[in-house]
Amino acid sequence: MKGREDMPRKITVLLGSPRRNGNSETLAASFVEGAAKAGYKAQIIRVNGLKIGGCIDCRRCWANKTHCFLNDDMKEVYASIDESSVITFATPLYFYSWPTQIKPVWDRLLPYFSPNSKVDVSGLRAVLLATAGDNDDKCSDGLKKSFELACDYAKWQIAGELLVTGVYEATAVSSKEEVLKQAFEMGKNLKSE
Ligand SMILES: Cc1cc2nc3c(=O)[nH]c(=O)nc-3n(C[C@H](O)[C@H](O)[C@H](O)COP(=O)(O)O)c2cc1C
Repeated sequence: MKGREDMPRKITVLLGSPRRNGNSETLAASFVEGAAKAGYKAQIIRVNGLKIGGCIDCRRCWANKTHCFLNDDMKEVYASIDESSVITFATPLYFYSWPTQIKPVWDRLLPYFSPNSKVDVSGLRAVLLATAGDNDDKCSDGLKKSFELACDYAKWQIAGELLVTGVYEATAVSSKEEVLKQAFEMGKNLKSE
């Protein structure tokens, strides 16, 4: 499989929060709703509760042109990404960075970045939906930079970044209609890209 041009309109949505129906999940729901209008189907993967270990840098994936040899729930993530044209990270900001739930997923994407990976993810479009408690917009700078550098390395096109601050309580984002609309439009606009 080479390139993403002919991929179906499928989005892998990774939910990074341990809180059900929290702020990042609420943003993701609006985004998915908008994306549905553009003909995209979403596979939502709640990472919390899945067993996903960290990369052990054995490079067996690179040597054997396969996904990771570790036998855990990352299989579900690989299977979804393999057939997606968009990947979305819906995540809370934890200590100015990714939560523990999401970080191993990034590291375990390593098989795709082997020079001879059998699945070419280089044309994927990527979306970041993040929520933070602080009111200072700068609090999300580290997460944003990490996302952008990772997308650059992966040769992923950034199809949207929405970094919402000042939402601490789990339902705080629900009253921010403008923000939910932005997430919705981001999903809806996928079709025009
Ligand atoms: C362990 C932990 C670390 C956090 N670190 C930060 C932080 O560094 N900056 C910040 O603004 N908010 C921080 N927060 C607050 C969350 O980012 C905020 O409540 C967010 O809206 C949670 O999203 P969720 O409802 O999707 O879980 C932290 C919360 C937790 C539980």
